Amino acid sequence: KYEKLWLLFGITTLLVFTITIGVSAFYMGNQPPSCLVTVDPANVDTTAPFDQPGLKQVGDNQYELIVVASAFNYDVGPEKVIQVPVGSTINFIGTTKDVIHGFEVAGSNANMMLEPGYINTVEATFNKPGKYTIVCNEYCGLGHHLMFATLEVV
Ligand code: CUA
Repeated sequence: KYEKLWLLFGITTLLVFTITIGVSAFYMGNQPPSCLVTVDPANVDTTAPFDQPGLKQVGDNQYELIVVASAFNYDVGPEKVIQVPVGSTINFIGTTKDVIHGFEVAGSNANMMLEPGYINTVEATFNKPGKYTIVCNEYCGLGHHLMFATLEVV
């Protein structure tokens, strides 16, 4: 007798979940923060904005950091250390020339994958001064542990 009730409960729950996800994805337009604009991995160096990696100020306390990852390096401009003032919001815009790399600003909520062919973005605000290490958190080969850059909030 109770089996039927549980079965009904299970099916109802499943339906509610499915409908919730459906409404969220198609009606409200929620998408995973990947699969945005595409870029040809072979021509990253000549494709804007990746032909000029590095930090750009786009407003009051607003920055963009163009990141080009490749085994085993982050190209974030001429310097490996990026500096922004306390309270800055950075929109990280990245892609990769070869394999999948990670992009994590340790100590912040900026964490994304860089996938060949795709441009991924993540935004974070830095209200605490300090040195934040940018690390690759996707195993990408023998030099994986050598992939890092530094963000200095001063
Ligand atoms: Cu790049 Cu691990």
